[in-house]
Amino acid sequence: TSPFAPRHLLSIADLTPEELTKLVRNASVHKAAVKSGKPLGTLQSSLLGQTIAMLFTKRSTRTRVSTEAAVAMMSGHPLFLGSQDIQLGVNESMYDTSVVVSSMVAGIVARVNAHQDVADLAKHSSVPVINALSDLYHPMQTIADYLTVHEAFATTQTSGSESTLGLEGLKIAWVGDANNVLYDLAIGAAKLGVEIAVATPKGYEIPAEMKQIIASSAPKGTSSQLQETNVPEEAVRNADVIVTDTWVSMGQEEEKAKRLRDFAGFQVTKDLAQRGGAKEGWKFMHCLPRHPEEVSDEVFYSPASLVFQEAENRLWAALAALEGFVVNKGKIV
Ligand code: CP
Ligand code: NVA
Repeated sequence: TSPFAPRHLLSIADLTPEELTKLVRNASVHKAAVKSGKPLGTLQSSLLGQTIAMLFTKRSTRTRVSTEAAVAMMSGHPLFLGSQDIQLGVNESMYDTSVVVSSMVAGIVARVNAHQDVADLAKHSSVPVINALSDLYHPMQTIADYLTVHEAFATTQTSGSESTLGLEGLKIAWVGDANNVLYDLAIGAAKLGVEIAVATPKGYEIPAEMKQIIASSAPKGTSSQLQETNVPEEAVRNADVIVTDTWVSMGQEEEKAKRLRDFAGFQVTKDLAQRGGAKEGWKFMHCLPRHPEEVSDEVFYSPASLVFQEAENRLWAALAALEGFVVNKGKIV
């Protein structure tokens, strides 16, 4: 890589614990400022006259809306390019697309199928690339998720100093499929000193290479507190937050019938939380879109559910990610 190679955000693994903390804190600061009617300061015109290309080969509600809205708040132009709009994949290679698009825009936000696609895009791009979901990672979701966890729990934590998010010792239970959203969440947990227990059905466990990446994400002198089980009750024991996601991710539609059978018993319900012994006052999170099989209505629409706050936080996370990687060129300050 040349000394001028841009810095990309492809996974939470690309961030130091301090940088992840800072991105979440910046998102929180921007949220508070805008909510209290204060302007965003220099951020407000930081993309004036600049375009952010959004290369999306999969559908999206939250990621698209939050990114377009964040770019608009920064006075930039979000250019949405769905797979039907551009030559990529049909008439043109990733290399050519990457060189051409990056020659005209300030940054690229990309949602792809195989992670290798966004890695290739980044490799040949002359501007920062932010991963907006691949089959392995979803970093913008993770920033929003830790903002949500921070908002829900930091006041009840003793160590909420400026340099941390005050989440050490917190326990997240993930019940369901091991997927892109989980991997970045678990990498973030290792970086932030958060305990994470993952319950998947047999045959759907975290792949060994990914476990290696999660384990090596813990700062020196600490170890990732990742537990794995095939028993949902075990994962939720003493959990502060119970998290799940769809059992059928985009691209897995053909496996749907088999997956619904294999995940039987993994629905997040009040009863599961009680049987397993989740902590008093436990909260529920889900990146959305949600399907009824992975979580009961009773939990999803309950006061314990943080899902709509979590969805809104995608906006503040997008603002912080664009600020850090596009405006400040990867210097997370
Ligand atoms: N959580 C999330 O990324 O949602 P979308 O697929 O709607 O963008
Ligand atoms: N795991 C899901 C997340 C959607 C935001 C998927 O990849 O489809």
